[in-house]
Amino acid sequence: MTSNLTAPMDLEESLSNLRRQTGEAVAAASTVDELAGVEASSVGRESPIAAARRGLGKMPAEERRDAGRLINEVAKELESLIARRRGELALEERNAAIEAEAIDVTVDYMELAAGRLHVIQQVMDEVCDIFIGLGYHIAEGPEAELAWYNFDALNTPPDHPGRLESDTMYVDYGKPEDEMLLRAHTSPIQARYMEQNDPPVYIVAPGRAYRNDTIDASHLPVFHQIEGLAVDNSITFSDLKGTLAEFARQFFGPETTVRMRPHYFPFTEPSAEMDVSCFNCDGGESSCRVCKGVGWLEMLGCGMVDPNVFAAVNYDPNEVTGFAFGMGVERLAMVRHGIDSIRHFIDNDVRFLNQFPG
Ligand code: PHE
Repeated sequence: MTSNLTAPMDLEESLSNLRRQTGEAVAAASTVDELAGVEASSVGRESPIAAARRGLGKMPAEERRDAGRLINEVAKELESLIARRRGELALEERNAAIEAEAIDVTVDYMELAAGRLHVIQQVMDEVCDIFIGLGYHIAEGPEAELAWYNFDALNTPPDHPGRLESDTMYVDYGKPEDEMLLRAHTSPIQARYMEQNDPPVYIVAPGRAYRNDTIDASHLPVFHQIEGLAVDNSITFSDLKGTLAEFARQFFGPETTVRMRPHYFPFTEPSAEMDVSCFNCDGGESSCRVCKGVGWLEMLGCGMVDPNVFAAVNYDPNEVTGFAFGMGVERLAMVRHGIDSIRHFIDNDVRFLNQFPG
């Protein structure tokens, strides 16, 4: 755009060339910066328009007015063309920047591994729920327990083999009255509860228990039990059997039957171990992997509360009777789910744990 616009003859034609060239250059400018260059060379201080204005002074006076008006018209037209294009380009650049910086909030976030209850906790909750349905309450007690509650209050004499260090984990030997250990079963909760509450009592007490056992396929030194205790003024062994049979039906299935085998526990008399009929086979199929052909699954220990236990907690054995039971939660879970080693529960292998979504 270097055409000489000072000669009046050329002015009209030159301006129309400038208009056309500028129109093309404006349309071709693809950035605001490029457009600024077009502006400078078409209507800026060094532009043909500026040169044309400077040339007005040399024109004869009669041509000057029309020439001036024409120059102004073209200049105005080009300026507004440039301004409109600048607006467009600025908007395009802004949109491009927004797009480049955008974060797509609709993109799927990686799936978070949701926590879930351990299968032992699930079984514990399920058993407690069954007993809550039968009118029982939940009770708890300390894991570091006085030997008094773990043994003496439960009619277990000082020379009982369970009190040996080879069986029980001691925390503090001390004097006999403050000898402390990690409870070997959940039964001390019975004694603590009766000491604090008058009869009638209907409780289940879930929790950890500790024994000095070496880990193998069926033993862990830290495991879980659920204790049960019912004390009232006319409780019989039939109530014990009926209650546990109902529990077995709810936990293992409606066809389940139970049987009691005589046993011995210091804190119950008479005492029994309860078996449940195998839920996996029709009873004693030799190929059954759950009962190994026996037809029965050993489930828990139970019995009628020994009068000496009532005496230890200041209940009158002539006024009340009761039953108690204790079951191993790991054993329940293993039987229920066909788990072959108790070690799986503490391995923390998600391939195992994920099989129990709860
Ligand atoms: N405490 C016993 C055990 O750990 C189980 C049990 C509880 C037996 C209550 C009878 C009554 O083996």
